[in-house]
Order: sequence, then C-alpha cells, then structure tokens
Amino acid sequence: MECRPLTRLIVISNRVQAPTAEQPGAQGGLAVALTAALRETNGIWFGWSGEAGETEAPRFVTYDGVTSATIDLPEQDVEEYYDGYANRTLWPLFHYRLDLTEFERDFQGGYERVNQVFGDVIGPHIRPDDLVWVHDYHLIPLGWLLRRQGLENRIGFFLHIPWPPTKLLTALPHHRRLVDALFAYDVIGFQTREWLETFHDYVIHEMNGEIGADGTITVGSRTIRAIACPIGIDAQDFVVSRDSEEALATHARMVESSIGRSLIVGVDRLDYSKGLEERFSGYQRYLETRPGAHAHVYLLQIAPPSRASVQSYQDIRAQLDALSGRINGAFADIDWVPLRYVNHGYPRAVLAGIYRAARVGLVTPLRDGMNLVAKEYVAAQDPDDPGVLILSRFAGAAAQMDGAVLINPYSADDIADAIERALTMPLEERIARWRPMYENVMREDVTWWRRRFTDVLEQAPAGGRAL
Ligand code: G6P
Repeated sequence: MECRPLTRLIVISNRVQAPTAEQPGAQGGLAVALTAALRETNGIWFGWSGEAGETEAPRFVTYDGVTSATIDLPEQDVEEYYDGYANRTLWPLFHYRLDLTEFERDFQGGYERVNQVFGDVIGPHIRPDDLVWVHDYHLIPLGWLLRRQGLENRIGFFLHIPWPPTKLLTALPHHRRLVDALFAYDVIGFQTREWLETFHDYVIHEMNGEIGADGTITVGSRTIRAIACPIGIDAQDFVVSRDSEEALATHARMVESSIGRSLIVGVDRLDYSKGLEERFSGYQRYLETRPGAHAHVYLLQIAPPSRASVQSYQDIRAQLDALSGRINGAFADIDWVPLRYVNHGYPRAVLAGIYRAARVGLVTPLRDGMNLVAKEYVAAQDPDDPGVLILSRFAGAAAQMDGAVLINPYSADDIADAIERALTMPLEERIARWRPMYENVMREDVTWWRRRFTDVLEQAPAGGRAL
C-alpha cells in the first residue's frame, strides 16, 4: 500500500491526449499511463487544444478523475511553431534528414514565442511541490522559461524522438541555445542508450561538459541527470483489446480474406521517417526475385496521413501513391493484389486482430525514437504459433526487441531476404525468438516507464535549482 503523500503531477505536452466526454476512449498508450498518474495525484495535463484561435486562459475540464487544461493558438503560431519549427526544422533534423530540414528565422521566433506563452499560462497554476514533466521536442525551452519565473520545482523532460549526432545538430542555427535550455531541467530522459550517448557527445564536444559515473552531467555550475528510459505499450490495456470480441472478429475476417495467403503487415503514421518507400521497394524486390511466392503472400500497409499541411508530408504521400500503384500494376493478377495500401487508421482492437493474423510484422523506419507498433505486434501474437517481427536496426525498439529479424531499412535486398526468412522460419525458432520479446513488452510497459522516470525525478536533489 502507498503510504507516502503523493506529489501532484503536472504533465505538459504539445497536444493533450487526456480523455474527454467527447472522446472517452481515443487516447493512446502514453495517455493511459499518464492519466493513471494524473488521477492518483489529482494532477493536470496542459497543452494545445489543436485548435487555431486567440490564446486565452486555459480551459480546465475534469473527466473521469483527470483534469486537462488546454489553450488555443493563433494561426500564425500554429504555422511557425507547430508546422514550422517543430515539424519542418526539429523533426527532420532529429531524424537525420538534413535534406528536408528548413531553417527559417520566423519558425524559431514562433517556437520561442509559443513556449513563452505556455510558460506564462501554465506557470501560475504550478504549486511549489508539484512534480512537472514536460514532453518532447515541441517544448524544449519550456523548463528554462518556467525557471525564469522563479519555479524551483523538480522539472523533468522526456524526448520521444532520437537525439541527433553532434555534427548534424550543429547545422541548426542557435543549437547551443536550444541545448542550454535543457540544463534547466533536473532530469532529462531519452528512449535508448544510443540517443543518450549522442547527447553526451554534444555535451563533451560543444559544451565542454562532464559526464559523471552516476549519470549526472555537469556544464558550468549546473548538474543534471540524463537517463535512458525506453517507453513501452500499455500492456494491460492491449491485452484486453487483443482478447476482445472486436479483435477476434477482425482476426477471423483477415483469415477469411487472406484465403490461405500469408499476410505481411505494416502500420505507420504516413511519415518519411518510417521508411515506407524503402519498405515498398524491399517488397517489390522480394516479388521480383521470388516469382514462386506470387499469389501466396500479400502486404497490408496501413498508413493514416499525418501533418498534411507540411510539404514534405504531401510529397511522401504522392510518392507512395505512385509506388503502390506501380507495384500492383506490375505484379497483380486477376485474383491477387500484392499490396493493399490503406490511408486511414483503425481502433486498437482491430489492429490487434490484424497483427495476430499477420505472419510477419514489417517495421522498417529509417530512424525512430522507439516504435511501439513493433511492441504491439509482439503483444498480439498467438503464443503457440507466433509471427515474425522484421525490425529496422535504426528503431529505438531494436535495443529491446532482440528476437526480431533486424534489417537495414535502406537495403531492398535486406528487406526481401528477411521476408523470405520470416515466411519460412520453423515454428520452434519463431517461438524461441518471440517469447523473450513478449516478456519484455509485458514487463517494461508504459507504466514501468512512467514510474522509472518519475522515481528518478522525485529523487533529484532539492535546492540549487535556481539558474
Ligand atoms: C511522434 C512525436 C509525438 C507526436 C506524434 C504524432 O510520436 O514524438 O510528440 O505527438 O508523433 O504527431 P503529431 O504531430 O500528429 O502530434
């Protein structure tokens, strides 16, 4: 039983995903984990409503014991902060896509302005002993702005995406200013050791900082902690979805519509970081080089569009439309479509049924902070007859999902070979690979992640946090 008084948790992210009366079940795994902690501690989740409009005092809504507080942002802020600096500058840069990174002074101005607005609006609602947890690349400077208001709370930051190599990051104008702001936090979290180590590299080479054996990082007079803390899926909730009527019905529907053909599945936001073009090319290579497999296999790619106002997302969508058309045009037969390409999302229970019916889960991002589809695919499998996960070595999940067939997502041959290997893998090997991954997914789930991070944050030394 919990005896100590619970510290109130304040979560701040670009968008709020806490449940509301209108969308009671629409939240993802992250939201489920955080809302549990928010409910226990009477906490608040702050963020942008997703709507354009004049920014006013936050709208507080309490639903099912969880309080969310949202603000609108003027159109110009949405363009410069969200579409601009977050999604046209930081996102591509942090995913190693310097070629897609746009450097506009107005974007940086909008980013700093909106972070300031977040600080001004939220600051007055934070009590001295609240635990404050800021999420993701949209809000890196927020901790620093809160400190400037005199807040001495424990404030943590978690980066959900990769941390880029130093040489890439230094291409960003004012990169040092951005990283300096991170030192206002007490604890910063990364998905994997790899991103943590690339961060260390920046600290050593660009900031003349020191890395302590205990995970502390000192730059000048500031000492903070930086940890690797991989996010997981909401395992309990996923199991409920997986075993639901809806999942079973979807599974039956998929088996029936597959008519004995092996299903390969991919599920991704339509984003260039997911390596979808390369995946389609890898599948095309498989079909070119294995004519005997035709009509015995098909790929179902589910890719709901994302960030559609950004040009690079419109481009990748057009390229995939063309490529999927070419693949089907070249290989389809009167009674076989090799690629089913679907541009909308499905509820989790439906996805669970699809994952279970799939012999192969194809998860091939060019870079990904973590990738929870890989973990959901594993969680959905039949223990007596599990499918095979093919996973990019450049996804954060590869560090934990070591039973996957790891591939280089840039290599069409690698993907083609892995598909063949997965489809012909003996049952014994499939089980031996799957079981430890399943145990990991169930153990290191999203609640484990949240507790691990907030435990470290709660233990961060008090005092000395003024800048
Ligand atoms: C990634 C980011 C999240 C973001 C999500 C969806 O997972 O790390 O912060 O919320 O993509 O992107 P969107 O731009 O639609 O919020």
